[in-house]
Amino acid sequence: MKPKSAKRIGLAIVGAGRVGLMRGEIAARFPAVDWIGIAEIDPARGKLVGEKLNADFVTTDYRELLKRSEVTAALISTVSHLHAEPTLAALENPNKISLLIEKPIANELAQSEKVLRAIEQAGVDALIGYTQRFRRRWLTAKEKVAGGALGDITTVTSRAFLNRLVALNNYKRQEDPAPNSPMVISGTHALDIVMWMMAAKTPVEIYARSVDKALSPICMGTDATAGIISFSDGTIYNSVVSWALPVSWPGAVYGLEVGVIGTEGVMTIDDTHRDFVLAANSAQGMGYVSDGSRLVDFVGSTPAGDMALGALRGPLAEETQQWLMRLSMGLPTVHATAAEGHHRLMLGKAYDLSARPKAPIQLPITPADEARARIKPEVFDFIHLF
Ligand SMILES: NC(=O)c1ccc[n+]([C@@H]2O[C@H](COP(=O)([O-])OP(=O)(O)OC[C@H]3O[C@@H](n4cnc5c(N)ncnc54)[C@H](O)[C@@H]3O)[C@@H](O)[C@H]2O)c1
Repeated sequence: MKPKSAKRIGLAIVGAGRVGLMRGEIAARFPAVDWIGIAEIDPARGKLVGEKLNADFVTTDYRELLKRSEVTAALISTVSHLHAEPTLAALENPNKISLLIEKPIANELAQSEKVLRAIEQAGVDALIGYTQRFRRRWLTAKEKVAGGALGDITTVTSRAFLNRLVALNNYKRQEDPAPNSPMVISGTHALDIVMWMMAAKTPVEIYARSVDKALSPICMGTDATAGIISFSDGTIYNSVVSWALPVSWPGAVYGLEVGVIGTEGVMTIDDTHRDFVLAANSAQGMGYVSDGSRLVDFVGSTPAGDMALGALRGPLAEETQQWLMRLSMGLPTVHATAAEGHHRLMLGKAYDLSARPKAPIQLPITPADEARARIKPEVFDFIHLF
């Protein structure tokens, strides 16, 4: 039922980097948003974004922003391993402010679980930025599976290829490379799409392998992870993610191919963006622009979407608008919930946990299992024998 009037939105943006600015520009044009506050630790960046958004309040301290009485909703868009603390601070606001948290909730399972419990206890509406859900092809794929067009799903495959600019960008931000694996940071998008389609089934085991030849000498990083998830009814999901492709690879960020086979049909989805190729004599790409060696671009391969005619077009724009419509009009959305976000992190960690001793892992795993995986490999292998 259509509500009589839209609720006002006072939006806090914590982390005014690329994503904070992109979502902020959409919010600044949304009629129900009548107040915007920004918390950004880099004062020059905070000032720049504050001016672009005509913000009402700018600070370097997210606690100062999140306790303001004008705030009804908060976007947590700090770098990937720094979402947990501002989220917990937002939960302290007595107004039960609604949250959109960029994925992952945290890059450690124990911290993600702590945040999830706090969200549940506070009873706030908290959603996770699994932006790819908002591409029309994935919405339609979800609809086809849920509507039974393929019968009972038996087999799923996914192949995610990423330019290594993404990996290098992630690894340079955190001293310890271990928690920032390709599966936790980037494979999680393919994982979410597939698990969203497979919501009716229960994953029970993961068997995975990783390789670290290209990125290890540069940043101690992992190149790729491949694995099989088995479900309780015997369904299998085979996936690979590599974020070690050369900088010259035309995919700016994400190229994904998914196949879904059921007892009554099959569906293949090409999200590699090879249908729009641009070549030029200057560096190409949006966001992760290279030193100039990347002259060819699969246009559309940036997960957020594309800047065109003065505005962002694509999934991140739709996702942000739908969140704002949910907040102001109470309309339903297809966002990932905090519980789903935590579940995807748990699966990503389980891939890494299985790849280390090269052994199958029973699902779900717990924070204690993850802690075990941080022990030195030789000790881990020894423990695993028992
Ligand atoms: N939804 C999507 O399509 C999508 C796309 C790219 C990135 N992301 C996610 O969005 C998040 C942000 O990515 P980005 O590309 O905008 O990174 P970014 O580095 O451009 O922006 C992060 C900003 O957070 C600021 N920051 C860090 N700690 C802070 C703190 N304590 N208080 C205030 N500000 C702080 C940094 O100074 C920086 O400006 C990441 O989690 C990333 O995984 C999502």
